Amino acid sequence: MTETAPGTMSRELPETDPMGMPLDWEWLRGARSEWGVRPKPSSRGLTMMDIAVGSYREVPEYPPQRTMAPRGADVDPDMPDMGYIVNRKSEVWAENVAELYEEAVSRQWSATRDIPWGQLTELPSDLEHAVCQLCTMLTEVEMIATDLPAKWMWRINHDFLETKMFLATQIMDEARHAEVFRKRALANGGGLLKARRGGELLLREILQAKSFTQASALLHLLGEGLILDLFREGELIAPTDVEKRIFRLVMQDEARHVAFGTLHLRYSIEHDPDAAEEIHEALDAGEEVLFQFGAQPTNNTAMATLLAGGVERIAEDGFPLSQRLSVKMLTSYLARCERAGLNRLERTKIPMDLLGIDPTAVEVA
Ligand SMILES: [Fe+2]
Ligand SMILES: [Fe+2]
Repeated sequence: MTETAPGTMSRELPETDPMGMPLDWEWLRGARSEWGVRPKPSSRGLTMMDIAVGSYREVPEYPPQRTMAPRGADVDPDMPDMGYIVNRKSEVWAENVAELYEEAVSRQWSATRDIPWGQLTELPSDLEHAVCQLCTMLTEVEMIATDLPAKWMWRINHDFLETKMFLATQIMDEARHAEVFRKRALANGGGLLKARRGGELLLREILQAKSFTQASALLHLLGEGLILDLFREGELIAPTDVEKRIFRLVMQDEARHVAFGTLHLRYSIEHDPDAAEEIHEALDAGEEVLFQFGAQPTNNTAMATLLAGGVERIAEDGFPLSQRLSVKMLTSYLARCERAGLNRLERTKIPMDLLGIDPTAVEVA
């Protein structure tokens, strides 16, 4: 047999092995592969964007098969069916997903090494309790952002590899977030305090979403968007440099998760005429449960205590600051919906008048 693929050397190849068994040289013939295409590393090294060249850049709208074969390989026509149920690009894709994956890999940090745990000193009892309550709630909610991507990962067609790789980084990020908040709850002699029913109802609503896009709307846009805005106020909330450092590091991860969700929803809305209504329906339900969660007094009093610097000034400073923070977070959420291409202003279940949210501020933001 003579090998004939362009760009490879021509030589006689044996048809059988020494035992007389037939040999398969198809991989050496080149077939349809992009032999000779040579991606160039960028200044950072060889990124996923750098290798998106030729046909390897192309992500099919509807992958022809449901297999784990690498996209771009020559695939046997009779591959076993992996049973993926998410087989349309608009159900999972975001234009920036490769960039976000690269960023996630390069910005991993350690809850063991990168937090100055040794700097913790004894805090007044009310502040330590408030930090511990906040960390109890955060430890609880962080793991939804591990469980939810994990629930969808094995259902997503393997041709959408970059999305699956990004979700894998999110799962690791969120494990680290649960770790860091659990460690902070315990590290200064306080511990884990109250976990309430309202939090679980919100988490269940997110976990039970019927499609990945609905799940992404509830998790990335609503849940993590609000958490991101909470961490942005870390300088105000944190009583010491230890919590400030935690909030800064967690915030950079959350910004990535929210960016993925926002751009996924935008992609979905732009490519599927039914997507906007599907997302609205998820957010209708999510906002209602969120409002019940947000109204529960356990976390509100802890947050107001932190913002006031202690329970003594909670009425004068704590509750007004807490109210202002809620308005800021919800305004930011509604603005994020607009950026995703979703007009929530006319449909939102959030009582905007009651809370004093200015719709023009949403549009400006
Ligand atoms: Fe997180
Ligand atoms: Fe997150």
